[in-house]
Amino acid sequence: MISAMMELSDRLKTLARAAADEVEPDMVVGLGSGSTSDAVVRELGRRVGEGLRFTGVATSERTAALASSFGIPLRTMDDVETLDLCLDGADEIDPALNLIKGRGGALLWEKVVAARARRFVVVAASAKLVPQLGVRMPLPVEVIPFGWHHTATALSALAIAPVLRRGEAGTPFLTDGGHYILDCITGPMADCVDLATRIKALTGVVDHGLFIGMANRSMTVDQHGEITTIDCRRNSGATNGD
Ligand code: A5P
Repeated sequence: MISAMMELSDRLKTLARAAADEVEPDMVVGLGSGSTSDAVVRELGRRVGEGLRFTGVATSERTAALASSFGIPLRTMDDVETLDLCLDGADEIDPALNLIKGRGGALLWEKVVAARARRFVVVAASAKLVPQLGVRMPLPVEVIPFGWHHTATALSALAIAPVLRRGEAGTPFLTDGGHYILDCITGPMADCVDLATRIKALTGVVDHGLFIGMANRSMTVDQHGEITTIDCRRNSGATNGD
């Protein structure tokens, strides 16, 4: 029997409960950024109120403020050696659990945190599942403001079309690290590993929103609130353009 469609906010709450079940007492947990991660942080905050003890590492100033408002104890990235788990959202997820992230502009801190986590569980609405990366969203690339026009020109030479992300006031969007974001229209990526390597090699680029071989598990929720879990052994070797 097909169950009724659920509102997105209710689906995200259902997903958040399942994601929060991944958190065990005394873990150090990376807390992602974006609307899906917000739902996870709220659920974890609720559980902290019921007695769950863990320590969070926030992937953005916004998530840090949200987690603190729920009484979740936080440490900074430099306060921890490693993390037990990272829970974060994504903009696209391919069948090998390679990801595009960064629509919310937090990709750099998100990648630093996820890279140090023993397990990285990506949580998203099932609409984020794609056969190939590059079909739904532009690829965010974080660049230093100095000489960004030149970095954009270098990105164009990779046959991807960069557009400077701007905030509501029309001024360039600034990341928590004080950088700009160039949203690059890539089209479907024939070889996301090669593209990641080429982008990362450009002077002026800080990092990109391709998270390759990093996620161990995806948890997605469909329109009826059904959750699907896919596990993937983390690829050995850095394929993330590092
Ligand atoms: C934040 O920079 C992003 O990487 C988000 O994790 C991603 O954009 C997913 O966001 P939503 O959960 O809001 O869709």
